[in-house]
Amino acid sequence: MHRRPEETAAGFLTEWVMEKFDVVIIGSGPGGYIAAIRAGQLGLKTALVEKDKELGGTCLNVGCIPSKALLTSSDHFVFVKKEAAKHGIVIDGARVDLAKMQERKDRVVKTFNSGVRTLMKTNKVTTFAGLATITAPGKVSIKSSSGETQEIETKNIVIATGSAPVELPFAKFDGKTIVSSTEALEFTEAPKKLVVIGAGAVGLELGSVWNRLGSEVTMLEFLPRIALGFDLELSNLLQRLLTAQGMTFHLDAKVSVVTVEGGRAIVAATKGGEELKFDADKVLVSVGRRPFSDGLGAEKVGVEFDEKKRIKVDKHFRTNVEGIYAIGDVIAGPMLAHKAEDEGIACIEIIAGNAGHVNYDAIAGIIYTNPELAGVGLTEDRAKEQGIDVRIGKFPFRANSRALCSDDVEGMVKFVADAKTDRILGAHILHHFASELIAEAVSVIEFGGSSEDIGRTCHSHPTLSEAVREAALNVEKRALHIMNR
Ligand code: NAI
Repeated sequence: MHRRPEETAAGFLTEWVMEKFDVVIIGSGPGGYIAAIRAGQLGLKTALVEKDKELGGTCLNVGCIPSKALLTSSDHFVFVKKEAAKHGIVIDGARVDLAKMQERKDRVVKTFNSGVRTLMKTNKVTTFAGLATITAPGKVSIKSSSGETQEIETKNIVIATGSAPVELPFAKFDGKTIVSSTEALEFTEAPKKLVVIGAGAVGLELGSVWNRLGSEVTMLEFLPRIALGFDLELSNLLQRLLTAQGMTFHLDAKVSVVTVEGGRAIVAATKGGEELKFDADKVLVSVGRRPFSDGLGAEKVGVEFDEKKRIKVDKHFRTNVEGIYAIGDVIAGPMLAHKAEDEGIACIEIIAGNAGHVNYDAIAGIIYTNPELAGVGLTEDRAKEQGIDVRIGKFPFRANSRALCSDDVEGMVKFVADAKTDRILGAHILHHFASELIAEAVSVIEFGGSSEDIGRTCHSHPTLSEAVREAALNVEKRALHIMNR
């Protein structure tokens, strides 16, 4: 950063004085801004560079946060329309004011934007607006949107530039008919027919939003299952429940062509040798994200990438170039905000000379459909593939008192425990509130706990968390509220 030019006794201005940072973080998503906060807490002289208008990255601006706002609003609508009457609440003529729903979502995002800005100030982080390019180790040039360039110097650089949606070569994004998640969060009316390519987290969440708000949603998935990476039994159950909610699934469907004419699309796919055709007002392509480092200049200073264009790092987030680190979606591992956050904290602690560490066995993945699908650690199938002898404990929410009171009985909890030691290796939950319930299992995994540890822990009654305890007890086939014999 440049300080004000200083005046000599004669009144001449001396040269701009270059201020050197301890760390410059490039990218202000959850990885970058959390790293900046930790750096501020540890007293490092910190800068954060962001090319977009607002701080917060994909998660805050066009990802996790706006999607959860719309998921909550659309879930409320379904409750009012389909569930309220069961509770004796009669609401006639419920309808959606989409403009208002979108306004609320935008307000949520803005509130967070200003929260992050304040956090940067209170942690004494200097923020720069513009595209950062690494010109040499320890040197970052920043080009603002108006074209001005300035260079800053630093001892360390942390690359936290995130990811971008993958584009299909035969279905390029046009932002209107063929869209990514960014535009699918901004529809001003529910498309009559929405085709979603890819039944992963993005497709299932946004497919759910628009299905709830009245679209006819067709999901096309290349694999024979939805929600790859999650427990297969729970994923299949989720698919059945989403189908009952009105979504149509075609698995093993290979999309080959998407043509757009007059603002409408025809999507052609093959499924078991059969040709399928779907017409759509909108096509959401949600087939994954790619690491993003366009314009960063990392290759020019010798930073190595792997075959998937991810920046290569060691266990301490160090690239092969001295003083350059990388975290989050731009390196290997699940593309999850909380994984990036933890890497950001660990990386800064390492830079500050402390012991930073991330336990990748204790990072949960969550899909925020209704019910939500959450999982941490090994699945039953993955344990088998790895030749690990495991015992499984399951418990259905149908047998949980609180779920019954709330009429929220769909789903189950499933534990995967080491057969010899009883240590919990994985936990999987399908339930309306699975995203909150999984936290208990994450903590127990972090502490190396066993199913017996959870089974012997008193859980308040009546709560959904009792189903977590019951599933843990059922590793020993001793759940209390179901018959095991
Ligand atoms: P994804 O990798 O989770 O799922 C993409 C799906 O598309 C896969 O099932 C894949 O088999 C399928 N696919 C790929 N090519 C296809 C084709 N040509 N035709 C049909 N299907 C095809 O990717 P997604 O959902 O786009 O999410 C991207 C990243 O963002 C993921 O890493 C995800 O974990 C993360 N994310 C996390 C969220 C959360 O934590 N709730 C929410 C949204 C995204």
